[in-house]
Amino acid sequence: MTPSFEDFEPLYSADQLRERIAELGKQISTDLAESDNLVVVCVLKGAIVFMSDLIRYLPHNVTCDFLRLSSYQGGTQSTGTVRFDFDLTQPIKGKDVLIVEDIVDTGLSMHFLLKALSAREPRSLKICTLLDKPARRKREVPISYTGFQIENRFVIGYGLDLEGRYRNLPYIAALTADKQAALDGNSEDALHAPA
Ligand code: PRP
Repeated sequence: MTPSFEDFEPLYSADQLRERIAELGKQISTDLAESDNLVVVCVLKGAIVFMSDLIRYLPHNVTCDFLRLSSYQGGTQSTGTVRFDFDLTQPIKGKDVLIVEDIVDTGLSMHFLLKALSAREPRSLKICTLLDKPARRKREVPISYTGFQIENRFVIGYGLDLEGRYRNLPYIAALTADKQAALDGNSEDALHAPA
C-alpha cells in the first residue's frame, strides 16, 4: 500500500540542505575554476530544486540544460531499461559537463546517462547527486559530488516525489522505520514510477 504523508519524518532540514549545497557549490567552483564552458545538466524532474539552488553557487558563465530519462515503460515496475524521454538542446563535445541528480539509487539511470553522454565526447563528465543510496545499487557509477549518503529509506521532498507529490517540500523527509520495514516486504520499485 502507498504510504501517506503522515508516515514520513524529517531527515534533512531546509537549513541543513542550504549549508551542504553551499559547500558543494564552492567545491565544484574550485574544481572547475579553469573551465569556460561548464554545462550543468538537470535530470528532470527530481533534480529541479537541487539544481536551481546549486547553480547560484557556481560561476556566472555556466550554461544550463535539461533532459529526462525514463526507466518505466507502461507499468509501475521498473523494467531496468533506461531511455531518453527527451534530450539535451545543445552539443556537449569539448565541454565540461556536470550532471545534477537528486538521488542515485540502483545506479541504472546514471550508468545509462554516463555511457550516452560520454559518446558525445565532452571534455569532462561528472555526476553531482544530492542523495546517494548505495544499499540499492545494481550498477556502480562514479559520483564526484555527494550531498548526503543515506540508508535504504524512501525519501520525499526537495524535488523527490511520492507518486508525483511532495516535490515542493522545502526539506527532505524519510519513511519511518516501521513503515520502511513494511515497504521492504513489498516492492519499493512501484513507488518510483514517474509522475
Ligand atoms: C528517480 C531519481 C533519479 C532516478 C534514480 O527518477 O530522480 O533520476 O530515479 O534511480 P536509479 O538510480 O535507480 O536509476 P524518476 O525516474 O523517479 O523520475 P523523477 O526524477 O521525475 O521523479
